[in-house]
Amino acid sequence: MSKEVSADAVVIGSGPGGYPCGIRLGQLGIKTIVVEKESPGGVCLNVGCIPSKALIHAAKTYEKLGKASDMGIQVSGKVSVDMKATQKWKSGIVDKLTSGVKQLTKANGSELIMGTARIEKRAGGGHQVVVTGKDGETRITAKNVVIATGSRPIVIPGFDPDNKFIIDSSGALALEEVPKRMVVIGGGYIGLELGTVFAKLGSKVTVVEALPSLLTGMEADCVKVVATKLRKMGVEVLLNAKAKGWQEKAGKAVLTVETKEGEVKIDTDKILVSVGRRPNSEGLGLDVAGIATDARGFIKVDKQLKTNVAGIYAIGDVVGGMMLAHKATKEGEVVAEQIAGHNVAMDVRTIPAVVFTDPEISSTGLTELEATEAGHKLKVGKFPFAALGRAMSVNDTDGFCKMIADADSGEVLGIHIVGNGASDLISEGALAIEMGAVLHDLALTIHPHPTLSEVMMEAAAAASGEAIHIMNRK
Ligand code: NAI
Repeated sequence: MSKEVSADAVVIGSGPGGYPCGIRLGQLGIKTIVVEKESPGGVCLNVGCIPSKALIHAAKTYEKLGKASDMGIQVSGKVSVDMKATQKWKSGIVDKLTSGVKQLTKANGSELIMGTARIEKRAGGGHQVVVTGKDGETRITAKNVVIATGSRPIVIPGFDPDNKFIIDSSGALALEEVPKRMVVIGGGYIGLELGTVFAKLGSKVTVVEALPSLLTGMEADCVKVVATKLRKMGVEVLLNAKAKGWQEKAGKAVLTVETKEGEVKIDTDKILVSVGRRPNSEGLGLDVAGIATDARGFIKVDKQLKTNVAGIYAIGDVVGGMMLAHKATKEGEVVAEQIAGHNVAMDVRTIPAVVFTDPEISSTGLTELEATEAGHKLKVGKFPFAALGRAMSVNDTDGFCKMIADADSGEVLGIHIVGNGASDLISEGALAIEMGAVLHDLALTIHPHPTLSEVMMEAAAAASGEAIHIMNRK
């Protein structure tokens, strides 16, 4: 059965790029259909940001209970984890959020339909999107198309997920038992976030990273704090190490890793492959529509997220850059407003990033190296959480805030935080950079006491040698 409909806009994909785009289009009075082939909310809600943060919180709670005696709290009996129950709790959160996406889309006047979309050739004006769903085909004619199809994990040849020994992030998030041993290939965002979860829950975790450092691109001294904590948790980290192949032997996986010192074999129960993500740009009819991609398959767009074909936009992971949910969301809003006739572009000075390791790392703006390479003379202030009353009173004092500013103007160029609460604290830093704040703007703003947010004020003051609660460097 085939149905013909028309719309002003079709959004392909309902992840954190697509569904906010659909909502905003609805708010702006544009007749919109959002198409989703799996589950509303995309990777982020279903098998990414949200379920991973739930497991990270569960693992943190488990670890904290083990340390409650520091605060005079005795837990009688053994603290244990029922992973099946943890998974049920996690799935409940995901279900609530995905049904929220459906409700919000509808409430804002857009329609969400389930099926797989592809773009077809159409004579005359507008575009043709064909959606194949379980009830047949829907042929949509639309003036505008927004491609928001996201990304998927890169598979290393020979390491195709079998969900027995080899898993990707989705497989790791669905584990119903804590494996005794886990090797994580790739010491990036996913590898370290999920590696930390399983290390806390009791797995013996080994991280195999091809480059000389973990979390390449993040401020190096922040990464050092995380690396130290990983070691304390018993996680083994192999740097300059590349996974070459694996074999099943006597009910376990034996991984071969090439290191500078030669080949190493590691026995393990699970191998999590987290070596980056690639765009979902195949099978969409991009060739038929003549939409240009780069050599890696990312759709090419300009600052207004326009592809080379008039009326077709692309947002989120499928266009590359920082593959972060909040970047996709902002891009979705920018595109929706353009379709409604507003003159807007993706014109941001900073996109903050957070890695939910222990401790968390967050970052906005330039790293110290990037700022130096950009030709700035720098003022750098660092303030440790250990000097904050609030950090002590929540029994979590690892880490610091590092504030990087131009030495002449005082303009804040970058803020990097490693420590408890880093994920929430960074937004003030992003606002500071967006507004072109100088160090004194942050240092002169009264921050409530006792809070972790004082770390921002103190780090800004430290950059000028004026911090109150540490000795300042002369
Ligand atoms: P990633 O790019 O963060 O890290 C991949 C790591 O794997 C790199 O360090 C790379 O050097 C290493 N690698 C590549 N090939 C290798 C090999 N053969 N052997 C050993 N190491 C190898 O990618 P990841 O962790 O898969 O995450 C993908 C993306 O998802 C991230 O870049 C991020 O944008 C996003 N993400 C964001 C999160 C957040 O915002 N908190 C959480 C999770 C993912």
